[in-house]
Formats: sequence, structure tokens, C-alpha cells
Amino acid sequence: MVKLKVKYICQICGYESIGWLGKCPNCGSFGSLTEIKEEDVEKVEERKDIKTFLIDEIESEESKRLKSGLKEFDDLLGGGIVPGSLILLAGEPGIGKSTLLLQLAFSLEEKGFPVLYVSAEESLSQIRFRAERISDKIPSVKFLPENQLENILEVLKSNNFLVVIIDSIQTIYSNNLSTSPGGIVQVRECTSRLMNFAKSTNTAIFLVGHITKEGDIAGPKTLEHLVDVVLYLEGDRYQELRVLRAIKNRFGPTNDLALYEMRDSGLKEILDVSKKLLEERNKNISGALVVPIMEGTKPILVELQSLISRSNTTFPRRISIGIDINKLALILAILEKKLNLKLQDKDVFFNVVGGIKINEPAVDLGIAFSIFSSYYDIVFPEDTVVIGELGLGGEIRSVGNIEKRLKESQKLGFKRVILPKSKLSKNFENLILYPISDIYEGIKIIWGNKWLS
Ligand code: TYD
Ligand code: MG
Repeated sequence: MVKLKVKYICQICGYESIGWLGKCPNCGSFGSLTEIKEEDVEKVEERKDIKTFLIDEIESEESKRLKSGLKEFDDLLGGGIVPGSLILLAGEPGIGKSTLLLQLAFSLEEKGFPVLYVSAEESLSQIRFRAERISDKIPSVKFLPENQLENILEVLKSNNFLVVIIDSIQTIYSNNLSTSPGGIVQVRECTSRLMNFAKSTNTAIFLVGHITKEGDIAGPKTLEHLVDVVLYLEGDRYQELRVLRAIKNRFGPTNDLALYEMRDSGLKEILDVSKKLLEERNKNISGALVVPIMEGTKPILVELQSLISRSNTTFPRRISIGIDINKLALILAILEKKLNLKLQDKDVFFNVVGGIKINEPAVDLGIAFSIFSSYYDIVFPEDTVVIGELGLGGEIRSVGNIEKRLKESQKLGFKRVILPKSKLSKNFENLILYPISDIYEGIKIIWGNKWLS
């Protein structure tokens, strides 16, 4: 028997209520609750064979993964695409999501995996134009210009695609709902129905999700809970570097990243990330230095830059790109208190080169030295890298993955490392190590006693 159930869902935050309300009690929006009729199908008891399994009887996911041929992309997913997985690719408009997925589609098709590209946003001629840019020899990927979910599912059911790309989740809609595409209700409904299809047929589905400047995927962060993998494509639209990050991955490591360059002929994988990031490095400029950071399991070297200048305003500016502004404030406070830097009448600009975002404490000491270097206009030695977490008392704390960080530094030709005192105080390969226990020791080693007033 089919009963109609009515509920009200906030279009902004997804809050559900059994009665209509003028103001959403969760997010405070007015007039955002929309009536949704749901078919409440009474459940018929299904007879299922219930049995147990031995580990040996369970097929491993690993053996079934589809290798797309885009090496960095496969690595990021943990070794290829898991059949039946639902993968969200999120990013700001114009960053290159459609380009990346078109390249993926071509590469998969070339390897003999049938792919469907559903274009709910762009015309076929736009896609053709993009395809011609990225490849001379266009493989036989199928395209479907459609934005109604039921029609898309119809095509999927009558074909055997291994991988389906939906571009984008915000522009498709289900006939079952009266609300407009892009709203939280539609996005959630479409995602969960595609999820069911993916799981029941073992088809891998990629969803493109546009995010706003505030970082929401069309309001719903909720989408992230529904899918198996969340990838973010980031970067500056006006520069060529793109960072693809796995924020969530049920089948592999999270917080790994792949780097790309946006060329005239599509996205090109950057294999040597550190080398690329240090290519246009500033060597004899105060405020600039290099730190080894960990991106998931991968060590990479990035350049930090500071610029301290006299402020003309009552409220000096604190601008930070690539690190949390609160972290910058904290480090400035430590420098003022412990090293007597007078920053209250200075503007502070801080930047992580290459559009990389860092949120690990191992860069604290690097940030502090970068600011110190700019403040006194003294150059940091170009053959040295810095590792260490900075405590409120100016003490240096140990961090993880020291060996990986040292190996990467050595590989890129650095000679000396300032690092926290720990068991690893003997020299490492061709590097000279300077273990320190507080920031004063570090300053003495780099610039000498005279800077400690
Ligand atoms: P696109 O993939 O359409 O972005 P999204 O799907 O995330 O909105 O890429 C948009 C930008 O990339 C566009 O400004 C043009 C640029 N681009 C290149 O520079 N080279 C290329 O080969 C292609 C296909 C696009
Ligand atoms: Mg697009």
C-alpha cells in the first residue's frame, strides 16, 4: 500500500520538520521550508538468505579497481577507481572540473572501460570544443545532454557503463520533487538515488559539485556524508597551478594530493611537486624560506613568504594566504613577547607560494623565522629548511614524519635543516642537522647572537 507522507525541508540547511514554519529553527532563514510529499511504501518482509563469510570468501576491492591511466589521479584515489563508488569532485566554477573529468573519461575509454558523460550544464558543442582542445584523437566516450534524473537513470539501466560522470549534481533534478534544481532537497535526492544505482550495479559515478566562495557545495555539506570519496580541485583561476585533494576517501588515504598545471591542452600532471613549487623561488629576499610539509603521506617542499611594513592605519593589517589567520596571530604574539618584535604598528602579509593551504603545526617555526627575517630585513640561508612546532613559551616541539621530510629536502639539494631536538640528532645522508629546543637557539644558529636583544 502506498501512503503519502508530507514533510517540510529547509532549502538552505536541510532541516526537516513535520509542520510548516515561517523561520527555520536551525539556520534562521525565513520562508525556506518547502513542502515535500514522500511516498511511504509499506515494507514487505523480504526473505533473505542470511549467511556468514570467511575472509577468504570475500573478494578484495583492490583486485577490482579500475586503473584510469592518469597515474596521479589513480594514486590519489588509493590505486584506481573502486567499482560502485560515488565520488564527488568539488571546486569553484571555472577551476577545471569538467576538463579533468573529460580527460578521465578519455583515458578510461582508451583502456577499454565504457564511460558515459552526462552533461546537464553545457551544450554538446561546448563539450566538443573542450574535447578538441585536450586531445587530437577523441575516444568513443558517450555523451548525454540531459538534466532530468529519471531520464538519466533510464539510459544507465539500459546500458552497461562502468563509469558515469554527472556534470553537475546541482543542475539535475528529479521529477518526484517539486522544488528547483540546485536546492538542498533536489541535490540530496538525486545523490542518494544515484548512490543506490551505483551500489546495486557496481557502476562508479563521479559527481561534479560547484562550491561557492564560502566553500559550500551549494549549501549542502550534507553531500559529503553521502558519498564515498570527496575530491576538491583548488587553485587560482588566473594561475595555472591546480591542487586536487582527497578530503574524504572510504577506500584510501585522505589528505593526499595531486598537482596539475592548466595548459592550453588541458590539465597536465606534475610529477615532481616540490621541484615545481620551488621553480620560481626567491633566493636572496628577506622573509622567504622553505619548509617541508606533509600532504597526507607525501612530503613536499613549499616556500613561505612574509612582508612586514610600517602601517599607515590605526589598525595594522594582518593578511594571511595559505595558513589560518589565527595561527598567524598566535605566532606574531609569541614573537612580540619572546623576541621583542614591535609589530603593533606594522602591517603583516604572509603567503604560502603556489596556492597550497597548510594546517599542520610543523610549519610554525618556519612561519616565525620568515616573519623575523622580513622584520629585520635579513635573508634566510637558501640551503636550509626549517621543521618544528612552536610552543607559546618559544619552545620547539617535535613533529611526525621527520625522516620523510629530510629525504625530500635532501632530494631537492638542501644542505642544512633546523629541526626539533629528538632521537634523530645524528647527521642524515648528506644533510647537516641542527637540533634545537627553543626559538632562541635557532636564531643564534642562523643569524648569530646580535639579533637577540
Ligand atoms: P572547466 O573545466 O570548464 O571548469 P569547471 O568545470 O570547473 O567550471 O575549465 C575552465 C577553464 O579552464 C576555462 O577558463 C578555460 C580553461 N582551460 C584551459 O586553460 N585549457 C584547456 O585545455 C581547457 C579545456 C580549459
Ligand atoms: Mg564545468
